Amino acid sequence: MNKTISKGVFYIGADDTNLDLFEGQYDLPAGISYNSYVITDDKVAILDTIDDRKSEEWWNNLAEVLGERKPDYLIVSHMEPDHSANVRRVVEEYPEIVIVLTAQALKLYNRFFGDDQDLTNRVKLVKDGDTLELGNRTLQFVTAPMVHWPEVMMSFEQSEGLLFSADAFGKFGALSYDDPEGWACEARRYYFNIVGKYGVQVQAVLKKLGGKQITKILPLHGPILEENLEYYINIYNTWSSYSPEDEGIFIAYCSLHGNTEKAALQLAEILKGMADVKVSVADLRRDDMAEAVEDAFRYDRMVLAAPTYDGGIMPIMADFLHHLSIKNFQNRKVAIIENGSWAPMAAKIMRTQLEAMKNITIVEPVVTVESTVKPATIEALKELAKNLI
Ligand code: FEO
Repeated sequence: MNKTISKGVFYIGADDTNLDLFEGQYDLPAGISYNSYVITDDKVAILDTIDDRKSEEWWNNLAEVLGERKPDYLIVSHMEPDHSANVRRVVEEYPEIVIVLTAQALKLYNRFFGDDQDLTNRVKLVKDGDTLELGNRTLQFVTAPMVHWPEVMMSFEQSEGLLFSADAFGKFGALSYDDPEGWACEARRYYFNIVGKYGVQVQAVLKKLGGKQITKILPLHGPILEENLEYYINIYNTWSSYSPEDEGIFIAYCSLHGNTEKAALQLAEILKGMADVKVSVADLRRDDMAEAVEDAFRYDRMVLAAPTYDGGIMPIMADFLHHLSIKNFQNRKVAIIENGSWAPMAAKIMRTQLEAMKNITIVEPVVTVESTVKPATIEALKELAKNLI
């Protein structure tokens, strides 16, 4: 499948609808696309390759676009294997091709593919702001370190305003899947789980892109964005500044015998009865962890409910807190519900971990469920609900 994006600009990527876990950890209910592009001008440039799982399809797409021509440049935006798996083969297949990449990307190239090749005269190292003339079109490189690896760069095609944005603005879901939830839901889960830690670096690249007239965003995963680009850029600004996207309360709970669950669900009902407030609930034992991380960042308030276990907290809540911590969770109000039958410890542990994160306000009172939900527990939950609203 190749698709013309604009005169002399082609999509040559592929959908992967059989992969169940991206990076071995993120559920893919609707697959994912590995995007790759070709520009045919006086010179021919390939922008990234794709994952080895879809190599055959990619080589066929490339051959279809190239016809009799040979590529002059291979632009490497990102060395993660979902984009670079075919890079070495391209270099071998086309002895004249020049690889265009950052110095950091070259180091990673050697790590992944070995340093047994003579790349003299085969490599053009580029820095932020450098340009590459293709004929009518000129690419300007915009380095984007840590969005999502250190070597990442974007390419801005100047005549038409095409931004080849690497992983940024990507989304889970194959292109053949018409997502009924639109772009934001799976783009948000992708962003917070894959790039969430690097908000500062995303902010820096958004600043660099600020003055550019962008007409299309061409990411390495998910659909090409062509309309209302301000929406996508603004939402990336919200996400990367760790500001809540929506007002609402996200309740994340786990439970051993159902009593902590009862308290969490009871709080959800109390909140909904008290105010017209959006309440989203996740059972950490069964729901997708990446989705829970996404909702934690999406809303301005969160409630954690967990039982004490082995003198600590139930492991799935420890895992959730670990995910939040490594993704730089910050700037939120958080309430705590614990359960404990003889020596409740969960609240203390959750509070300590939350207080180690930046700008977290604990909403009082901490509610302790003593084994089961009792009238006194309900009163405490009502008090907490008032303070949350
Ligand atoms: Fe799609 Fe960071 O690779």
